[in-house]
Amino acid sequence: MRLIIEDTNEHAGQWTARYIVDRILEHQSKSDKPFVLGLPTGSTPLSTYKELINLYKAGKVSFKNVITFNMDEYINLPEEHPESYHSFMWNNFFNHVDINPENVNILNGNAADPEAECREYEERIVKAGGIDLFLGGVGENGHLAFNEPYTSLNSRTHVQTLTHDTLVVNSRFFDNDVNKVPKKAMSVGIATVLDSKEVVILALGPKKAAAVQHCVEGGYNHVWPISALQIHPASIMVCDDPATAELKVATYRYFKEIEKENLI
Ligand code: GLP
Repeated sequence: MRLIIEDTNEHAGQWTARYIVDRILEHQSKSDKPFVLGLPTGSTPLSTYKELINLYKAGKVSFKNVITFNMDEYINLPEEHPESYHSFMWNNFFNHVDINPENVNILNGNAADPEAECREYEERIVKAGGIDLFLGGVGENGHLAFNEPYTSLNSRTHVQTLTHDTLVVNSRFFDNDVNKVPKKAMSVGIATVLDSKEVVILALGPKKAAAVQHCVEGGYNHVWPISALQIHPASIMVCDDPATAELKVATYRYFKEIEKENLI
């Protein structure tokens, strides 16, 4: 695992956006096949989406030949609700770049048969050739996508009941009313994320410090689903300084030192 430590949220977003653009350009120089990008929602990826939009506007990248798969979506929240992950993605990213709407994949949280929707989503990923790079965030309790603690580390796309912790954390998007937060969601599984060729996880702010510590220094364990990154052959965690607050000084220095020469 690589651990990239930037001083601020903004710089972490810039590093991550440039990394993604480099991967897309490298892929496009070798192949005509679309680049397949996994994407998250939440407050964390906003600085990355902002920089991706800047890079697109500066003519450094095009998303025309990119297929996206989002990680998760609430169940029974209308697609047009401002807090649906559909709305989030179009408002914060897709509407600002040249992506072909047909190449956007987001789980349908209102599907008549949610289990079938989850199975079909896995099939769509396979049909697209698998995910080249999965960008993600992490929950305060270590959840990856909506894979809450104790979800199988071998899970596939599934319906997930959200923990009370997550409902409380996410209530900030629903008038601070925990009762307005949907209690269930659909989420790609941990194995779905681990199948992608690369995984880049952003962890920003002091509230993510415990999750970062367990992911980087703890054991591979379903109590902290984010620790699954340890068994991926090409995973990167990108932090701002406050998110590293619970790491040992020795760990912090080790990664600062080893990444010193790596500009990207
Ligand atoms: C949400 C999402 C996750 C996200 C995480 C962190 O509930 N389902 O995919 O990574 O929680 O959210 P935030 O970035 O707002 O802290």
